[in-house]
Amino acid sequence: MIIQPRTRGFICLTAHPDGAHQSIKNQIEYVKSKGKIKNGPKKVLVIGASTGFGLSSRITAAFGSDAATVGVFFEKPASEGKMGTAGWYNTAAFEKEAHEAGLYAKSINGDAFSDEVKKETIELIKKDLGQVDLVVYSLASPRRTHPKTGVAYASVLKPIGQPFTNKTVDFHTGVVSDITINPVENDEDISNTVAVMGGEDWKFWIEDLKAAGVLAEGVQTVAYSYIGPELTFPIYRNGTIGQAKNDLEATVTVLNDLLKDLNGKSYVSVNKALVTQSSSAIPVVPLYISLLYKVMKAKGTHEGTIEQIQRLFAERLYTENGNVELDSAGRIRIDDWEMAEDVQAEVAKLWEQTSTENLSEISDIEGYRKEFFNLFGFQFDEIDYEKDANENVQVPSIE
Ligand code: NAD
Ligand code: NA
Repeated sequence: MIIQPRTRGFICLTAHPDGAHQSIKNQIEYVKSKGKIKNGPKKVLVIGASTGFGLSSRITAAFGSDAATVGVFFEKPASEGKMGTAGWYNTAAFEKEAHEAGLYAKSINGDAFSDEVKKETIELIKKDLGQVDLVVYSLASPRRTHPKTGVAYASVLKPIGQPFTNKTVDFHTGVVSDITINPVENDEDISNTVAVMGGEDWKFWIEDLKAAGVLAEGVQTVAYSYIGPELTFPIYRNGTIGQAKNDLEATVTVLNDLLKDLNGKSYVSVNKALVTQSSSAIPVVPLYISLLYKVMKAKGTHEGTIEQIQRLFAERLYTENGNVELDSAGRIRIDDWEMAEDVQAEVAKLWEQTSTENLSEISDIEGYRKEFFNLFGFQFDEIDYEKDANENVQVPSIE
């Protein structure tokens, strides 16, 4: 079957298995080029392991530190005549590469918010690894069914207090326009978003893993957050999603208490704005990312998810003296290059000037688009998209 991209808004309905494999190979090559991470993790659980930051975390652990990895995600497998999702193909390719390199890699496909998937994961760790020494929490989801109450929560992306008007871009057409997003009408929008993207599920995971005795002495756990520039504050950091991130960040203290007797530590890492399936859904943010990419590429400081996570592991989580550098609020900052004053000043200046007419000149909208399609295995030079794709690709560890 010949597979071409088919998009609906910020969603791509198709995915290319061979392109996904190429993307995995590129990420592995990058991690290898940076050399082994000294004192890196050895047995790693990644929750949200199939795309974006979680996938790059799994690749960095495996190929940067020879770690055994268990990956948890929610993807659609390829079946008779039907395509799988990008994360499914990513994982199929990752496991193939990991197994060929002699690395343990097994995956669990299901709802990470559920008690069942937590149980299944614990059983797998007990059977194969005994314990894990790193737990990466990288879920991004629009909804969550609460495992104890059965209540289904849906998150919203809204400002709080007043309407927010700013520029946004349709990255397919390159049309820049003003968008007004109305604020939440009630506190429920906020609490629902916190229930989905806040820290409760991370806490549930760590509680269950600890109770089952599958966390190693000195275990570390890390979850990912975002801050970004003032111009996105109303929709991001001061909006509903920001409240969820505040809750996630506050969970660090709770988990540190929980992990104390294991000499374990929990962290939130504030990461850079990047093109992922989740971030392309947020209004205003894709235009900011297009300008940010332009500025950071010109300065030579641009990074993708794999560069971010390799640096997070090598220069933050696993330093030679064991010290983990934190900001005044206790967070790891791997968004330091994004937030550099000169970068932000240039982006802010470009932001004022941006219009449909000058977009391709002053922003890296081309790069945004390419990365978006890359997420689904498209637009890799190495792949001949006129040829039949390798259909029915399976994840070896899933029966
Ligand atoms: P992503 O959409 O690429 O990855 C989400 C992962 O979660 C996938 O592996 C998906 O399968 C999994 N998932 C979603 N729902 C699930 C469920 N119910 N059960 C099991 N797995 C499920 O997203 P991402 O951008 O890599 O985001 C990961 C984290 O990084 C989020 O906390 C996000 O806020 C944060 N972050 C993102 C950015 C950015 O710009 N993309 C920047 C900073 C921080
Ligand atoms: Na992820």
